[in-house]
Amino acid sequence: MSTAFPSLFSSVRVGDAEAASRLWLAPMTVAYANLDGTVSTAEVEHYARRARGGASVIMTEHFTISEAGRQLPRQTIVDSRDKLPGLRALADAVHDEGALLIAQIGHAGRYGGPWDRYDDQPRLAPSALEFRLVGDRVVTPTEMTVDDIRETLDHFERAASLLAEAGFDGVMLHASQGFLPSQFLSPRTNQRTDAYGGSFENRIRFVLEAFDRVQRGFGDAGPVGVQLLSDEAVADGWTLHEAVELTIRLESLGAAFFLPTVSTFETLRGISTPGEVRRWGHQLGTAIALQAAVRVPVIANGGLTDPQKMDSLIAGGLVAAVALARPMLGNPDWARDAAAGAHDPAGCPCDPPTCLRTQLTGTICESWPESRKERGYWGREEIDA
Ligand SMILES: Cc1cc2nc3c(=O)[nH]c(=O)nc-3n(C[C@H](O)[C@H](O)[C@H](O)COP(=O)(O)O)c2cc1C
Ligand code: SF4
Repeated sequence: MSTAFPSLFSSVRVGDAEAASRLWLAPMTVAYANLDGTVSTAEVEHYARRARGGASVIMTEHFTISEAGRQLPRQTIVDSRDKLPGLRALADAVHDEGALLIAQIGHAGRYGGPWDRYDDQPRLAPSALEFRLVGDRVVTPTEMTVDDIRETLDHFERAASLLAEAGFDGVMLHASQGFLPSQFLSPRTNQRTDAYGGSFENRIRFVLEAFDRVQRGFGDAGPVGVQLLSDEAVADGWTLHEAVELTIRLESLGAAFFLPTVSTFETLRGISTPGEVRRWGHQLGTAIALQAAVRVPVIANGGLTDPQKMDSLIAGGLVAAVALARPMLGNPDWARDAAAGAHDPAGCPCDPPTCLRTQLTGTICESWPESRKERGYWGREEIDA
């Protein structure tokens, strides 16, 4: 491809797979799944359209491994064979558009939904610690027993095995953003006194075991990576130093790539600078630190909108690839436009973000033409603007 950004649009090996470029779609919960957790047509169209628009790797939104791990009503659940037809349709559509498909799998833990029924069903967490869920609502999850932990690990393996059968090219364990695996990492949310809490070795145990089970479930179907909480950014929380240590351990166990992200729901609330999370490179330093520690690809994400900066980061070996969320939601052709030098370097115009506010019913983007907002998603079919 002829482009002003040769490093960004060069291929990269991820385990045994090869991505055609280093410009990927980042995980983004658009929440178009059917209410029974199966993949919907809108979901297939949304991802296939971003693949058609030039993203060489499609990382899915947060797929949950079980009903207990569900956060949102319209979330894909990978828990049984009746989910296979939809998952296969998604894999086929993304492959038809020439991209690789990597599923992000996780468990919401103490953020489990539906939030209006929080108290009716046990919400699992490493420790039963009270916290502010949404608004002023304070809730207390249930401390997981060792049997709960074993069952959850079984579910990670089951989900990975189903995704392999459905034809996915890779899987990424979601151990960030305050969801269950990262709840185990943080001494703030994990105050257990058994083998899963306390010391660094004990706090990382759940993530190491979950990674192992995902690897076993996915077998030789493709690379298994980790989205890792690279810094909790609060006093007494999980640190970058610990994240680097864990990254090295996970690489030695076979992790094929890493997507570092900073913060949890609560630490994001604590950020006092307006626009901090949107600032270009707000978590880039952690990605560079992780890439310096391992040989496998580390993918940078967060506020990246300038292909020249992306190209320089990759050319300098500071990170191996970049993943974009909001730019590719707003403009599914962002990657293709960037290759041609026709990208829009402006960040997102809306605050608070409409895409986050509409997750309960299915995400729409403020910058879409009205016809696409009315349809509720931007798929491959062309609609008059
Ligand atoms: C609507 C929306 C949904 C998101 N859902 C997820 C998700 O399911 N999993 C995840 O790891 N990150 C999720 N994120 C975070 C993005 O992956 C990304 O880290 C963040 O948007 C910053 O990248 P960007 O500046 O390219 O948008 C979401 C972000 C948005 C805006
Ligand atoms: S809804 Fe707003 S913040 Fe979200 S992707 Fe669209 S323009 Fe960006």
